[in-house]
Amino acid sequence: METKILSGKTASDSVYKSLKPRISILKNKDITPGLAVILVGNDIPSKLYVTGKTKKFQTLGLYSQTFNFSGDASQESILEKISELNRNSDFHGILVQLPLPPQINPETVLESINPLKDVDGFHPWNLGKLCTGNPQFIPCTPKGVMRIMEFYNIDPAGKHVVVVGRSNIVGRPLSILMSLKSSSANSTVTLCHSGTKNISIFTLSADIIVLALGKPEFLRGDQIKKGAVVLDVGINRVSDNSEKGYYITGDAHMESLLGQASAVTPVPFGLGPMTIAMLVENTIEAAENYIEKSRD
Ligand code: GUN
Repeated sequence: METKILSGKTASDSVYKSLKPRISILKNKDITPGLAVILVGNDIPSKLYVTGKTKKFQTLGLYSQTFNFSGDASQESILEKISELNRNSDFHGILVQLPLPPQINPETVLESINPLKDVDGFHPWNLGKLCTGNPQFIPCTPKGVMRIMEFYNIDPAGKHVVVVGRSNIVGRPLSILMSLKSSSANSTVTLCHSGTKNISIFTLSADIIVLALGKPEFLRGDQIKKGAVVLDVGINRVSDNSEKGYYITGDAHMESLLGQASAVTPVPFGLGPMTIAMLVENTIEAAENYIEKSRD
């Protein structure tokens, strides 16, 4: 069986193309969609993610500003900045890059963001809206997973979807999204995690597997049904003897999956670009909602 490689680059380019006219309409109304990013500490992958996000905003002629805090910043100082950003109309979206250092409670910080500016979709209000089937902002990576399937005409309706990983950022919201009663979801979902015993029992019966556990090359070809689709959210650094000292790989063991899966997303250039595209889309939506609201 030939395994199709689902390019996140191609799928995200199509998202940007669809966003162009929406950006023009906003600009004609003197609105430049703006994103504020809060970055705490010096975690290198976090810095790279943030640079990737803000660069894309720049390329598209959108506005973004990163607010850097030292790794020993107080929770109070972060909450103060968020309160200021909630009131600043230059920013339609606010994103706090995770993880946060131990002295800061992520729940308290995320709950302080105005849900209407919560373009990451991590506020309990947005997660609650998602759970009840009436989402406002959908977290970017789960949304990107749904969108890449849509782009490549992979219909999850009626299929058995196995999500591996239960993080608040990816696995849990995605498991809910996939099970919603809507034309582009409607799947039977199994959520596997670190407490799951004998995970192959589940992955072998899956039509679609989403990997979001952060374990390099975890899923191998003999753990899936022939023809299954594997969507890989993992981005892992593995040490090696190269000049860089590491290589980047997903949670899928690509070599053994080729020929066994009908389609896989690569790492890099799979779900990474889709996550950024969904962040841009959510920020544009926040700016559109802002105009709607100011008209009331
Ligand atoms: N850390 C890892 N992924 C994400 C993400 O999608 N959003 C934020 N804010 N932090 C992250």
